[in-house]
Amino acid sequence: EPGALWGGRFASGPSPALARLSKSTQFDWVLAAYDIAGSRAHAAALADAGYLTAEELTAMRDALDVLEDRVARGEFVAAESDEDVHSALERGLIEVAGAELGGKLRAGRSRNDQIATLVRLYLRDHARVIAGQLGDVVDALVAQAAAHPDAAMPGRTHLQHAQPVLLAHQLLAHAWPLVRDLERLRDWWGRASQSPYGAGALAGSSLGLDPRLVANELGLSEPTENSIDATAARDVVAEFAFITSMIGINLSRLSEEIILWNTKEFGFVTLHDGYSTGSSIMPQKKNPDIAELARGKSGRLIGNLSGLLATLKGLPLAYNRDLQEDKEPVFDSVETLEVLLPAFAGMVATLTFHTERMAELAPQGFSLATDVAEWLVKQGVVFRDAHEISGELVRFCEERGLALDEPSDAELAQVSPRLTPAVREVLTVEGSIGSRLGVGGTAPERVSDQRRQLQRRLDDV
Ligand code: ARG
Repeated sequence: EPGALWGGRFASGPSPALARLSKSTQFDWVLAAYDIAGSRAHAAALADAGYLTAEELTAMRDALDVLEDRVARGEFVAAESDEDVHSALERGLIEVAGAELGGKLRAGRSRNDQIATLVRLYLRDHARVIAGQLGDVVDALVAQAAAHPDAAMPGRTHLQHAQPVLLAHQLLAHAWPLVRDLERLRDWWGRASQSPYGAGALAGSSLGLDPRLVANELGLSEPTENSIDATAARDVVAEFAFITSMIGINLSRLSEEIILWNTKEFGFVTLHDGYSTGSSIMPQKKNPDIAELARGKSGRLIGNLSGLLATLKGLPLAYNRDLQEDKEPVFDSVETLEVLLPAFAGMVATLTFHTERMAELAPQGFSLATDVAEWLVKQGVVFRDAHEISGELVRFCEERGLALDEPSDAELAQVSPRLTPAVREVLTVEGSIGSRLGVGGTAPERVSDQRRQLQRRLDDV
């Protein structure tokens, strides 16, 4: 079998059915450049331990450069008979360097330690891209918050009017989870930077190769401590899949609000033409497809994570071929986010908020009832009683079709003698929002503190 990495102990080559099942070049070819980088580092370790002369090392490096170039130009591609990216590239190396030199490179390494390392290199590179793109989404939210420092809106619980809040507060509430996702990527980075290369098939190398040298050359931090763990574990891959799922879920929750805000009934936002879509039959339609795709794709990201977790569950140590199934799900998650995030950032950056409509709705639904209760507490009323009195005022207004600030002084007194006309100072949206001065509250001062704090956290990741 030309190009196979095994065969000595086999009387026949693989059956066509097995070859077809076993083949992974259709998806693992994206690791080709990382495989070659690994080979370059491994050649240095072989030379360092005396298995390659200085001339051989130079020749090996030159050959790997040529191969890399051919791969980049699409001149060297996987053949039908290549099992995986590693086999294909060894075939390619031998084409360039000859069998004598090319055949030396595999000493002291296994595809098991290679693949565990390469997937980390791939994920690290894409983690950087995703972090940059996610940073753009956060920036867009922060910029919208900064552009609307005083706009009020109905804050909701159970999707019902709860208390008025600043639009900026709500937008930053969507930004914080994404900042934590960026921090999660940063924390993951340290674990992803350990190098399995040198662990061999599972038991480590007998050739006296220095895995620190390989780790250094690859820009990784240090070799993994246990060669069995190095080749068997995929928690770093699963954790990456979790972070991408969490990003998807966080975008999905914001999407759900944007979709609601964009309805006629809410009328809180208008989407930019460049970031919304039309209907093939209804000429008037302008649809929030980016938000819907984000919501839909979050399901796909979760599917990739749960599929991978299911693959890992029950696998004995060390390497099992099942582990080949780790790659397609995370490759898909990477591609999904890298396509979604730029569109999402553009949608957020170009949203137009209808702040008058939001302000008009902010006090509706008796959303100032808590302010009445807390005002009573400040007048010395026990909260239990204050809650009762404010509730009675709500009932009084509801029965008469009045807003909370519409009863006359006499009617207020009729509900409770504790409700003096002075209560009117908290019966405005501005008064309510302005009074929430506690840490993390929705008062304008706190929200601008918050924005500065968020910026600082962002600068740190
Ligand atoms: N293609 C395999 C993977 O993606 C790596 C090769 C290990 N194969 C083996 N038979 N030990 O996990």
